[in-house]
Amino acid sequence: MAIILGIESSCDETSASICIDGTICSNVIATQAVHAKFGGVVPELASRAHQQNIIPAVAQAISDAKIHKNDIDAVAFTRGPGLLGSLLVGTAFAKSFALARNIPLIEVNHMQAHILAHFIDDPKPSFPFLCLTVSGGHTQIVLVKDYFDMELLGQTIDDAAGEAFDKTAKILNLPYPGGPLVDKYAQLGNPTAFQLPEPQIPGLNFSFSGLKTAILYMVQKHEKENPNFLAEHMNDVCASVQQRIVSILLNKLKKAAKETGVKDIAIAGGVSANSGLRASLLAMGEKYKWNVFIPKFEYCTDNAAMIAVAGYQKFLVQDFVGQDIAPLARWHV
Ligand code: KG4
Ligand code: ZN
Repeated sequence: MAIILGIESSCDETSASICIDGTICSNVIATQAVHAKFGGVVPELASRAHQQNIIPAVAQAISDAKIHKNDIDAVAFTRGPGLLGSLLVGTAFAKSFALARNIPLIEVNHMQAHILAHFIDDPKPSFPFLCLTVSGGHTQIVLVKDYFDMELLGQTIDDAAGEAFDKTAKILNLPYPGGPLVDKYAQLGNPTAFQLPEPQIPGLNFSFSGLKTAILYMVQKHEKENPNFLAEHMNDVCASVQQRIVSILLNKLKKAAKETGVKDIAIAGGVSANSGLRASLLAMGEKYKWNVFIPKFEYCTDNAAMIAVAGYQKFLVQDFVGQDIAPLARWHV
């Protein structure tokens, strides 16, 4: 039997999880409310909150899984990419825990872990599969050949998809993080009410900065004629924006599927919680006869279960790191 403790602290969620023989037995997420009033994550405040939350989160994860801390066989932690000060807290904790208990230490790449969240529950995709990873910091199409053999086929050249949602929300005077709110209002609106451009970017890369500018100009233009424009049309604006972000993402995914011939198609990362993206991907999957894989909501946004399950796969092949390990703010898949 192998019991893995997973630790995630790359951005603004402090999370701990226990994985027993590949099965997730607990997944505790301490969300940091402190950032909302600043309209975005404040790195120094995030590090401090991680420092406060990490021990209680781990204690809770151990207790929820009904194990004793001495039963843990290895500790897996997010080494990167992410905010350096945040990563340092999880890394230092994981190293200390491993040293104190004399157990192996396992590094995990956060972007790989978002993809490996598909191995938490059934049905699981089979290799090779394509994964569209969409979060607050990344937008990538990855060809997943094996657990830790991944090829980046395309990525954003400016903003990430999550940033596009969050920056739109800011223009619409919605609080941070705006993605879930845009999603909520979009469900009540008409997605064809406002026309927004689809950028023409070569290959499998993405761009979202032009869309953000188009939304700003569109709102400013309407507000000149009607100062109550946003209050009156919030649902339609959100639905139109969401529809465009989703079409940008799925058109590239369709292209990647065509070019590679791969039929197992997955999404991962915080934006994969988006209801419009989930529904459109399912519809596209039916049309093109894909096997579509969408993570449970709790495994879309940042969580330690995905770190623990990735750690379990590394534990099986004894892929461990030494006590001289340090976090990486940038680290590709
Ligand atoms: O993966 P994640 O939790 O953190 C990063 O690693 O970045 O992703 C967070 C991002 C934020 O930009 C948030 O607004 C977005 O995911 N997000 C959503 C939804 N839920 C979270 N965007 C659109 N619709 C949602 N339902
Ligand atoms: Zn993430």
